[in-house]
Amino acid sequence: MSTIFITREIPDRGLKLLEGKYRLIMNPANRPVTRQEMMEGIKEADALLCLLCDRVDREVIESAPKLKLVANMAVGVDNIDIEACTGRGIVVTNTPGVLTEATADLTWALLLAVARRIVEGDRFVREGKFNGWAPLLLVGGDLYGKTLGIIGMGRIGQAVARRAIGFGMNIVYCKRKRLPLHVEQEFRATYMPLDEVIRKADFLTLHLPYSPEVHHLINKERLNLMKPTAYLINTARGAHIDERALVEHLKEYKIAGAALDVYEKEPELTPGLTELENVVLAPHTGSASMNTRSIMAEMAAKSIVQLLSGEKPEHVVNPEVFDKS
Ligand code: GLV
Repeated sequence: MSTIFITREIPDRGLKLLEGKYRLIMNPANRPVTRQEMMEGIKEADALLCLLCDRVDREVIESAPKLKLVANMAVGVDNIDIEACTGRGIVVTNTPGVLTEATADLTWALLLAVARRIVEGDRFVREGKFNGWAPLLLVGGDLYGKTLGIIGMGRIGQAVARRAIGFGMNIVYCKRKRLPLHVEQEFRATYMPLDEVIRKADFLTLHLPYSPEVHHLINKERLNLMKPTAYLINTARGAHIDERALVEHLKEYKIAGAALDVYEKEPELTPGLTELENVVLAPHTGSASMNTRSIMAEMAAKSIVQLLSGEKPEHVVNPEVFDKS
């Protein structure tokens, strides 16, 4: 019987596909697995079902001589050393597509929350400070007629763009490879270089995968390109932004605000971030609808079942592993 190591309890829909078929070892604690626990847990494992917060590096992989598959219950795979996996012939899978709409929804929730100061307003009311309507009470920014700048126009970027049409916004975007004209027309989106997108945007939102080449893509210099009235939204990966530079920028109101779902050293926060009023902070909940998380778990589990029964899983990140065999 094959052994599967699961780094933390996942929704039932995923577990059900594995129970009875395999020997399951699951981290019993309601917290992320430690590095030591993971290395211990995968010693005998044929497959690993892990989460985006589990760092699966070369050393971890080397502790698992029988490992054939790493199934990440996430679309991003920056937590996994893909090269090391490929070198060992280990297949890596992810869960693309199914979290697109949920993540786009959360992006809009954050965008609206920071523009219309929803979290500040909630605190204000709870603290008993609401004495009645006032002309300048918690006034924020408009969306209608404004420009949304999208960096990374893949599935999630496009789902965010689709929603922007309903809000009457103009869309500018950049992407490694420009979209075909008919897709640009569908979203009424204008392609421009990165720095131009940053300059033009009233709302700047990030939707590109993380890799070392885009570390601190939004650094101090690029923050300086933003309009002082603009907002920055990040539901991609924290290290796209130099968080210290962002805190300084927000402190001095050099931009209007930011809304973050992801952090550079997650779950640690850069000092000063939580003291700022002009930032909305979410705990990496982009895909956190019950249905979406269930489908993600099912997809990750399905890739294990597929591989261990001799099939090629649907969403392989390193297909070259199959070319080699
Ligand atoms: C979420 O951040 C994911 O990559 O699935």
